[in-house]
Amino acid sequence: MSPSKKLQKAMNDQVRLEFESAYAYLSMAAWMEDQNYPGFASWLRQQAREEATHAMKIFDHLIDRGCKVALQPVAGPRANFASPLEVFEQAKQHEQSVTRSISELYGLASTDRDYASQVFLEWFITEQVEEEKNSSQVLESLRRVGENQAALVMLDRELGQRSPEGGGAAA
Ligand code: FEO
Repeated sequence: MSPSKKLQKAMNDQVRLEFESAYAYLSMAAWMEDQNYPGFASWLRQQAREEATHAMKIFDHLIDRGCKVALQPVAGPRANFASPLEVFEQAKQHEQSVTRSISELYGLASTDRDYASQVFLEWFITEQVEEEKNSSQVLESLRRVGENQAALVMLDRELGQRSPEGGGAAA
């Protein structure tokens, strides 16, 4: 059984949102590179790669279930930020909006009694808990660091150690 037309449309929208997420993180990474924060940039590049894998998971799921993938234009990301703190404020807000979007998808799947979609989307619900936690941790670390440049350099170094699938700062 294929997902309802409404859910297929919403899943295609989510593919776009995940690629927009990848683009947004890549733009944040570019800004960090420009500001000489290679560790933050590396963390954000890693995040951009993860977002592309999220998009492809949904892409593959649509294909596996006999649905049409209809790629949409991806919105241009913001290119300039006031500070690393503002970057991670944006990242956290972005993750919260992705969580809302995934919740709406799950709600549609529940209304449709589409159990295959519900099981598929459960991975994303769990992932969003992790995504929000990771951005929140970095944001809290940046708030603690404040204007202390030495601490900021140390945090930048620490975030540069992020492994694939790893996330927040321990600071
Ligand atoms: Fe794919 Fe960060 O949500």
